[in-house]
Amino acid sequence: IVAEAREGAIGIAHEIAELIRSKQRKGKLAVLGLATGSSPIGVYQELIRLHREEGLSFQNVVTFNLDEYYPMQPDELQSYVYFMHEQLFDHVDIRPENVHIPDGTLPIEQIKEYCRNYEKQIDECGGLDLQLLGIGRTGHIGFNEPGSSSSSPTRLVKLDPLTITDAAKDFIKEEYVPLRALTMGVGTILKARRIILMAWGEGKAKILRETVEGRVSDEVPATFLQLHPRVQVVVDQWAALELT
Ligand code: F6R
Repeated sequence: IVAEAREGAIGIAHEIAELIRSKQRKGKLAVLGLATGSSPIGVYQELIRLHREEGLSFQNVVTFNLDEYYPMQPDELQSYVYFMHEQLFDHVDIRPENVHIPDGTLPIEQIKEYCRNYEKQIDECGGLDLQLLGIGRTGHIGFNEPGSSSSSPTRLVKLDPLTITDAAKDFIKEEYVPLRALTMGVGTILKARRIILMAWGEGKAKILRETVEGRVSDEVPATFLQLHPRVQVVVDQWAALELT
């Protein structure tokens, strides 16, 4: 628990930077699972600063994003492709071929194969060294809404009505929010060697308590993180308000 989100975000960025540097020293790739939304913005800002001011290179970094709305064109302002480029990729020296974000433009009949291949690409890179997660008020991680099983793979999902309400701020009107998304599964996330979940602000306090202290259940998919051996939960004092 940290006092303010900024402090937590800087700490997380430094852990990611240390992972990248330790892999560099061994001549290996650092394979990162990344999130979008408001929670990781401060982390990405600090990573950009470390790149600009402290020489942190992303040449050995491979990234896989958790999710993308479906359907979604990459050049739309609300797309997670747009978000990731604006918030991180355009400001560091990552190789474009090392960036992976689920493709929201695919025809529906190609999605199953595409999702299988997304998982295969993660495996071929040696698996995720670190998965960064935010949490939705439904208890979703990625877009694994209530009802998602602990072994769920990358797939097309329906968004929960509460998630659609929360996303409306980015889409002007609730009707414009896509009803579906492509997401890594809970099973995909749990395969990461290490996970960092972050939550900032009082709006996350209730779901954070359920995640950390509640019974493991698909009603709150984030509770499946309790089954993983190496998860850090980084929260500010407001998100921690309901922890006992
Ligand atoms: C985003 C993602 C989502 C968000 C969650 C919280 O890639 O996977 O699970 O992390 O909806 O969103 P924010 O951070 O905007 O509160």
